[in-house]
Amino acid sequence: MTILRLPSLVDAHVHVREPGYEHKEDFYSGTVAALAGGVVTILDMPNTVPPTDTPARLLAKARLAQAKVVCDVGLFVGATTTELDAYLPVAQAACGLKIYVSDTFGSLRIESLDLLHRFFRSWAECAAAHGGYRSQGIAEGIGPIAVHAEELMLPVCLALANLHGTPLHVVHVSRRSEIELIRKAKEQGYAVTCEATPHHLFLTAEDAARLGPRGDMRPRLVTADDVAALWENMAYIDLIATDHAPHTLQEKQSQEAAPPPGVPGVETLLPLLLTAVHEERLTLEDVVERCAFAPRRIYGIDEPEDSYIEVDVDAEFTVRDEAMLTRVKWTPFAGRRVRGRVERVVLRGNEVFADGQLLAAPGSGRVLFGAADGI
Ligand code: NCD
Ligand code: ZN
Repeated sequence: MTILRLPSLVDAHVHVREPGYEHKEDFYSGTVAALAGGVVTILDMPNTVPPTDTPARLLAKARLAQAKVVCDVGLFVGATTTELDAYLPVAQAACGLKIYVSDTFGSLRIESLDLLHRFFRSWAECAAAHGGYRSQGIAEGIGPIAVHAEELMLPVCLALANLHGTPLHVVHVSRRSEIELIRKAKEQGYAVTCEATPHHLFLTAEDAARLGPRGDMRPRLVTADDVAALWENMAYIDLIATDHAPHTLQEKQSQEAAPPPGVPGVETLLPLLLTAVHEERLTLEDVVERCAFAPRRIYGIDEPEDSYIEVDVDAEFTVRDEAMLTRVKWTPFAGRRVRGRVERVVLRGNEVFADGQLLAAPGSGRVLFGAADGI
């Protein structure tokens, strides 16, 4: 047994599902699962029902969250074709703006250049009014634009962000073509950061064939060469975030309706990465940088005082569906041998999770950026 103390982790890409899909996850079950994974800060995506696309909806979501969360949560606002950039008055209360320009779950996809350009322009104007971006160290600034942009949509978003001086964060990069383009853009000085998910780092299209609906998500699992490209370019992957996207197994296996894409992930993040450390594919510093320091820097989130996790890096175990605390109770990594068990999580001096048990009360976590304060 070797217990290591690590900084508390951030998962910058989580779909909590409340409001609208509480049977999949809510702010309580999602944050309990986060703590079990050693994660004390999650950033919640806007593709709920209704979407988080207006000030009233952000505020309502923040209130729901504040009543239930056992860890800290930042909320994204989302660009939609119906409400357009109505979120602007509360941009500062969000962790960032999420724009979906590729195939996804839900109705938030933006397909016209006209609209997309509008969102980049107005976010940049909003940043100017707030003194800039949090990623530039400006506390009263706003967060980045985060895009789900695959293939040809990636250069479109890079160009728009560059034209408007907007920091761009590209979520779940999966292909060689994409990471190589991002690398080039970084080398040219573009203000672009990116993330990869554990499933795109550890699974391929072959696994998707084996896993069936349990291996279906957007972007889809890709080739071994694409996966190799992510590992070769790890220096250009700023952070690792899970895209925790729970759907029930019944929904995933449905024969009638089109099964929704997405897989849970917040609980398996750290064991998968610590296994890669054991196999000398990553260093512990690589993991802490990508799962703690970089997300805090990119989104401008202070490290909560007196907060850390303790992990038994020698503990080896088999990932099991039944051991998951997410409401949907399954994982695409079931059956995999991993190393690294979260033993204890301390948040602001309080032991909030230990020996597999939750010790925090609902509502004891914080909603970040003042979103719950009634803007
Ligand atoms: C996500 C979901 O289920 O909300 N699904 C997915 O396959 N990744 C949506 C998304 O992140 O695009
Ligand atoms: Zn997502």
